[in-house]
Amino acid sequence: MGILDGKVAIVTGAGHGIGRGHALELAKHGAKVVVNDLGVSVSGEGGGKDADLTVDIITSRGGEAVGNYENVADYEGAGRMIQQAVDTYGKLDILVNNAGIVRDSAIWNMSEADFDSVLTVHVKGTWAPSKHAAVYFRDRSKSGEAFAGRIINTTSGAGLVGNFGQTNYATAKAGIAGLTQTLSLELFKLGVTVNCVGPAAATRITGTMPNAPKVIEADEVPDDEFNPMDPSTSSPLVAWLASDESQHITGQIIRAVGDKIVLMKGWADGPTISTKKRWDAEKLGQQLATDVFFTRAPGLRY
Ligand SMILES: NC(=O)c1ccc[n+]([C@@H]2O[C@H](COP(=O)([O-])OP(=O)(O)OC[C@H]3O[C@@H](n4cnc5c(N)ncnc54)[C@H](O)[C@@H]3O)[C@@H](O)[C@H]2O)c1
Repeated sequence: MGILDGKVAIVTGAGHGIGRGHALELAKHGAKVVVNDLGVSVSGEGGGKDADLTVDIITSRGGEAVGNYENVADYEGAGRMIQQAVDTYGKLDILVNNAGIVRDSAIWNMSEADFDSVLTVHVKGTWAPSKHAAVYFRDRSKSGEAFAGRIINTTSGAGLVGNFGQTNYATAKAGIAGLTQTLSLELFKLGVTVNCVGPAAATRITGTMPNAPKVIEADEVPDDEFNPMDPSTSSPLVAWLASDESQHITGQIIRAVGDKIVLMKGWADGPTISTKKRWDAEKLGQQLATDVFFTRAPGLRY
């Protein structure tokens, strides 16, 4: 018995890298997998049936998988992808939004197209499949069926703590964390959890960076060997989040880096000041310095 026996999953951007790792892991635990991939370069150019590479590995290992070649950021295409899972395997339980591209540069060198394309693939490419999945999950819930729906999104350290040269990517990945938290509130009553995983690995994406480690594909590292840069180090967490066992976990942002799993604690109320009248900008500085930022008040002399 696998923890995902009988489940049907979609993993986007699963032709390579981290997505391939997730697809192999979900299949290993019993899920039938729709392997989505547009087959583009790291910067989002070209196209191909790279999804089939992962489908072949899953089927050669005795699992069930089918390829899907849609652009996740295309609204209609995202809808067709959700429908393919239902038409092929009778239902959808798990959506893993993983597809992504990078176009890094400092902001003064970044073109508008580099900003727009990265935002589109990551943010709309997470929202559009989630929207179609949410409609499907809502219909399923309305029919009275009890089920454990799952959406698992992909963020990054760049979006959570920042990274030089990635204003487009960091904006997108922070957006995905925010989307996760709000979507978790909207879908909770349907029995659907929504969480976000922040992986790290030696993939084609990191391969574009200076002094990058050699690119590793997820099937190159046997499950009984540990390599901290293996694209599948976060996949066991994804498989667990996809399972019935994780029903009590939603709206969480979790990094899985090497052998570590870290719950990210983000924005929370900090030092607060209040007044019964409108603030006065000329007098505000001293109180902010002493009671909020705990720095020396600007008016004070040593
Ligand atoms: N590699 C890391 O260290 C790292 C760290 C944090 C987050 N991530 C995230 O992990 C995810 C996977 O990245 P990776 O490192 O495995 O890169 P990768 O290039 O190996 O895999 C990304 C896959 O997404 C596919 N893709 C791109 N645009 C698509 C689209 N519009 N529709 C469908 N498929 C599309 C590509 O064809 C590719 O196969 C991305 O969201 C990335 O931002 C990666």
